[in-house]
Amino acid sequence: MKLLSSLPFVCLAARSWAAAKQPAPEPQYIFSNPPASASEYKIPTSYESAVLGRRILGLTPLGTLATVFPDASGGRQPEGLGGMPLGLLEYVADCEEDGNPTFLAINIETTFKNVRGGSNISLAQQWTPPYPPDKRIKSTFWNWLFGRDDSGPTDRVPYSAVNLPRYSLLGYIEKMDAAATADMSSCFVDKHPDAKYWLPGNPIHESQFVRLVVTKVYWIGGFGDRAYIGWIPVEEWKNVTRKEWESVELPGEKEGWKEWSSSDL
Ligand SMILES: *[C@@H]1O[C@H](CO)[C@@H](O)[C@H](O)[C@H]1NC(C)=O
Ligand SMILES: *[C@@H]1O[C@H](CO)[C@@H](O)[C@H](O)[C@H]1NC(C)=O
Repeated sequence: MKLLSSLPFVCLAARSWAAAKQPAPEPQYIFSNPPASASEYKIPTSYESAVLGRRILGLTPLGTLATVFPDASGGRQPEGLGGMPLGLLEYVADCEEDGNPTFLAINIETTFKNVRGGSNISLAQQWTPPYPPDKRIKSTFWNWLFGRDDSGPTDRVPYSAVNLPRYSLLGYIEKMDAAATADMSSCFVDKHPDAKYWLPGNPIHESQFVRLVVTKVYWIGGFGDRAYIGWIPVEEWKNVTRKEWESVELPGEKEGWKEWSSSDL
């Protein structure tokens, strides 16, 4: 009894003793960062990154569109916004085969007003794994010491978001031919069922299908010691075929992944 009740204390004391004896861990140890030189890590090429990026575009329904306000303020736009960037959520679909994202532009949206005012545009998207990792990147030393478990509903981002791939596609908006409307409608509604209420010709809002013609691709694959970070040549982005992006896997597409393992190419 006595031994049992004092056990937690002994354990705590042992932990504190171990903590006191142990020199401060190296930052790499705190984050359990396997050396990037380990044989299983190879920094992907820009083309391999383009394949991963095209998979993100194919699988990710949301993104942030950034435009800038025109110089001349008009209508209800407050003074002094000319040149100011504006980022807003937008539904995204990948309805063409060449890496130019598809949007259902509602004419009264500020984003598309800015485009009509002459703005170029960029789309930011990030990979959101459908499953949380089995093994998280965290301060193993301090978690061990305090027995902290930060999984569960209070963990608002249950994965290391900065270690996951993301990109910005830069370019300009081009209207699609009216002849493409039927195909685009079925592709877009497939991904966004509620968009059926805003399809071109609806009685509420004037709308049309547009594409973002990608001219530049900025990519951050994750931590720089194991991922490619930088510009992807746009020809590489456009060259990726559906067969290619369907054959790769992004981190966390299946259960039981570990945050440090890079994507399987
Ligand atoms: C900005 O838009 C113009 C006009 O649409 C286009 O010609 C140009 O290529 C765009 N710039 C970039 C970097 O995409
Ligand atoms: C794009 O694909 C074509 C045809 O497979 C190939 O000849 C060309 O080198 C590729 N370009 C890039 C930049 O990958």
